[in-house]
Amino acid sequence: MSTAIPELSTFDEQDLDRAFAALTAEVREQAKSLRSDEAIEAFRLNWLGRKQGRLGQISAAWLKSAPVEAKKSLGIRFNALKALVEEQRAATGDADARTASTLDVTLPGTAHRIGVEHPLISTMAEIVSVFQRMGYSVGLGPEVETDFYNFESLNFPPNHPARDTQDTLVVAGQDAKPLRDRLLMRTHTSPVQIRTMLEQAPPLRIVIPGKVHRNDAADATHSPVFHQVEGLCVGTDITFSDLKGTLDHAMKAFFGSAVKTRFFPSFFPFTEPSADVQISCIFCGGKGCRKCKHSGWIELLGCGMVDPAVFEAVNQRRIELGRDPVYDTKKISGFAFGMGVDRITMMKYGISDIGLLYSGDMRFLEQFA
Ligand code: PHE
Repeated sequence: MSTAIPELSTFDEQDLDRAFAALTAEVREQAKSLRSDEAIEAFRLNWLGRKQGRLGQISAAWLKSAPVEAKKSLGIRFNALKALVEEQRAATGDADARTASTLDVTLPGTAHRIGVEHPLISTMAEIVSVFQRMGYSVGLGPEVETDFYNFESLNFPPNHPARDTQDTLVVAGQDAKPLRDRLLMRTHTSPVQIRTMLEQAPPLRIVIPGKVHRNDAADATHSPVFHQVEGLCVGTDITFSDLKGTLDHAMKAFFGSAVKTRFFPSFFPFTEPSADVQISCIFCGGKGCRKCKHSGWIELLGCGMVDPAVFEAVNQRRIELGRDPVYDTKKISGFAFGMGVDRITMMKYGISDIGLLYSGDMRFLEQFA
């Protein structure tokens, strides 16, 4: 691109005409090839740039030195040239118009990446669907819970040491309220057992997926936020055999029919008797390997028969709410169970650090797309 300005020997009309005709032709020629942002910017700088711009040079070299009688005619020509430059630049300013002439429809388009379910969510949904197929309906409850639903109604009395096993975050500034009304982040999905029984009379079967919180220091197997799937089955003649049969079936449905279950005595304030359930190791089939610490078994969930004290608490609250106390402990029994979704997800996908599930790291998440 030329940056020079024409020689001007005199300021008479003919010389001016010749010089401006050459410049006009040059502007028009250059304007034809303004197809990229770079080309447009170079064109602008060449003519209108403050330091090197040729209009500026013309003005400095000619307008200043022209004799008075030539100034008017020179000025008219100069303004016309400047208007032409501006006009050509404006004509290229419409980006759509520019691309329209250069649009190549055979190029691949801009890909919009669609999201996928997080592995925790899809695992939780799979577990829930196993129970839905056994006639359970899905129940949900709030993550910010009262002390009553999270602890007291589940037979964790105030100051009882069982509360120490489920330390959590509490909402500040509630000292004026009675303890049972104070808010905290729920430590388990079990409060939804109570909420469901307040709304529904027996018999009922409910499966409760959700997020829970505990004051646990984060490490490879602990996260202060994690997920559970809870279950509750209440009716007449519900026995421990029903509990065993239900969970054995559910584990086979989820992990494969070769999986075995076994039950050990355990303790939860809201179930009596309580049990921990182990499944035969899904990695070695029970022979013993690193994953099952060479025991052949993996601990997976907690469960038990609903403690009558829980039914009493439900009846009590139902009366307070003006509802019939229909959970008659002489006629009604039930079982409950709860499992950690994060551990199951980690087993299923071979994830060794729970923190990856909460990191938002795309390199990790992309593997589930
Ligand atoms: N809520 C218990 C926990 O989080 C698990 C559980 C649920 C145990 C239901 C028994 C019955 O530890």
